[in-house]
Amino acid sequence: VDIVVHKDGGNKTSDMPYGLMHEDINYAGDGGIYAELIRNRAFQGSKQFPVSLSGWSPINGAQLTLKQLSKPLSSALPNSMNVAVGNASKPGPIGFSNSGFWGMDVKKQPYKGSFYVKGAYKGKFTASLQSAITKETFGSVEIVSKSVENEWVQHKFTLVPTKNAKNGNNTFALTFRPEGVQGKAKSLDFNLISLFPPTYKGRENGLRVDLAEAFAALEPKFLRFPGGNALEGPDLANPWKWNETLGPLKDRPGRPGVWGYQMSDGLGLMEYLQWAEDMNLEPILAVWAGLALDGAYVNETDLQPWIQDALNEIEFVRGPATSPYGSLRARLGHPEPFPLKYVEIGNEDWLAGRPAGFESYIKYRFPLFKKAISEKYPDIQIIASPSVFDDMTIPAPVAGDYHPYREPDEFYNEFHKFDGLTRDNKTLIGEYAAVHANGGIKWDGGLHPFPWWIGAVGEAIFLISAENAGDRILGATYAPILRNMNSWSWSVCMIEFEADTSKTTLSTSYHLFKLFSTKPITRTLPTTPGERNTTSLFWGAGVAQKGGRVVKFANYNTTGHADTPVSVRFEGVREKKATLTVLTGKEGAYGFNDPERGNEVVRQERRVLGADREGRFVFRLPELSVATLEVGRR
Ligand code: AHR
Repeated sequence: VDIVVHKDGGNKTSDMPYGLMHEDINYAGDGGIYAELIRNRAFQGSKQFPVSLSGWSPINGAQLTLKQLSKPLSSALPNSMNVAVGNASKPGPIGFSNSGFWGMDVKKQPYKGSFYVKGAYKGKFTASLQSAITKETFGSVEIVSKSVENEWVQHKFTLVPTKNAKNGNNTFALTFRPEGVQGKAKSLDFNLISLFPPTYKGRENGLRVDLAEAFAALEPKFLRFPGGNALEGPDLANPWKWNETLGPLKDRPGRPGVWGYQMSDGLGLMEYLQWAEDMNLEPILAVWAGLALDGAYVNETDLQPWIQDALNEIEFVRGPATSPYGSLRARLGHPEPFPLKYVEIGNEDWLAGRPAGFESYIKYRFPLFKKAISEKYPDIQIIASPSVFDDMTIPAPVAGDYHPYREPDEFYNEFHKFDGLTRDNKTLIGEYAAVHANGGIKWDGGLHPFPWWIGAVGEAIFLISAENAGDRILGATYAPILRNMNSWSWSVCMIEFEADTSKTTLSTSYHLFKLFSTKPITRTLPTTPGERNTTSLFWGAGVAQKGGRVVKFANYNTTGHADTPVSVRFEGVREKKATLTVLTGKEGAYGFNDPERGNEVVRQERRVLGADREGRFVFRLPELSVATLEVGRR
């Protein structure tokens, strides 16, 4: 294929073509990017996930009992753990341990911990990190008790292990001397027991460093949150309630998630906004629009309080520090408004409770939310949760949200899907992924076990089609982005991880995304021939945000076992050198990375090419490859 990239023409494209979407699924938040190491730290529970002592074990005969005390730590956290002296199996301290989110990463670095205790105890507590198998202690610290009868007293400590653990199979332990416990009860009550390793950019209550850094390396431009079905909640009583995710952890009740576990809400609205701030991401805030995942929806007559709630939330995010909710934000340490320009009304309102739930969205839920938000904030780009591809007429200038979960072949066949979008059909790709193997079985066959190479090549075709329509497509984000390998419900995710940070695995889709997202364009450039040849090579060209020109390729040739010869000439470009980066799958179409095998499957080759006498860069692209060709980058 001989391609000429023209000097002029094309369209200006979105300045946020690639982003992130976060949802607490697969322990992606709690036990994932939210760096807290203690599982079930505050004994939160619900009808769906009854309160339990899951994660906790007694040490040396201590008796652990769940209690609802008449004087709880807070109304948000009514349950606590009573630790009674019991029958010590040997002399010495007693206490409890926590096994974390299936282990804990232990390194020679400072861990910040805290716990609340009620009951008089004279002496010291010992906090330590130890191996779950050998019981070897990697580090410990003594904390002088300040505890008193009948009051909850917080204790804080810093624990610095003197040794790195060999693996993630470690626990946190807190012990005390039974003879120091005063009073008749011979027990102490504990709650909100917390331990954080160093966090991304040192934020208190912040993000797990390796996962956050992996996302930052994608150079994303936006963050859509709180994502997906988790916004909707399991029923009308339990949507994501932004105002219950704020402030001191002792005031956050948590809530039942929709993916099989109770959420602590430690990763709350402020933490999402700080995440966006720390990675310089445009926040795309999803507000709850009155639809729950069980299909129930709010009647028109009952909707007004929820509309007001969304307005309050927006004011919290971007209102002046003098406004009622802006002042709450200021009190929480962020007087400057966050820059909020995008608000999405709901999540996939075309799906749950269809058809009645969707009809209610079209008829009154969407129009009423939209009217109220745009009247108060005319500069906000409103996004409807369906797209024009979901049987909804989206009224310009509102954008839609399109979520294709596909077979790679479908991405191949839908390359021209966006051609029909007009400038009045702005669309966010708020979630996408290749999730099903080719063959048409789709959801009946379930999800692929991991992102896999031909899936990534299919996604490359899709992303090129989105970039080519970059005057109408606001941006694209893969979903879900995280999967804790110890407890998950959705197998195809951008990054797989365990407690042990050395097991963090960047999927085939991550590598493809990074190749493209780190080379954003500011405008498309027409090519001859246009976009795709008659075989299986797809491409898109543009003016690179970082300077120069870039062409992105996806070669979906699976039959010929032969490389595809390509030449590219850039009109109006004098540079005689171009950088070609090619990704291939070492194990063919079905190869995937996983935490046990490591990040081995994607091979990256980078070469500097010289132009021939006609000014062409000539190269070959292997079958099932994705590539970029950059010229004149600053
Ligand atoms: O990304 C997983 C789920 O897929 C999201 O929760 C939902 O929005 C979509 O259906």
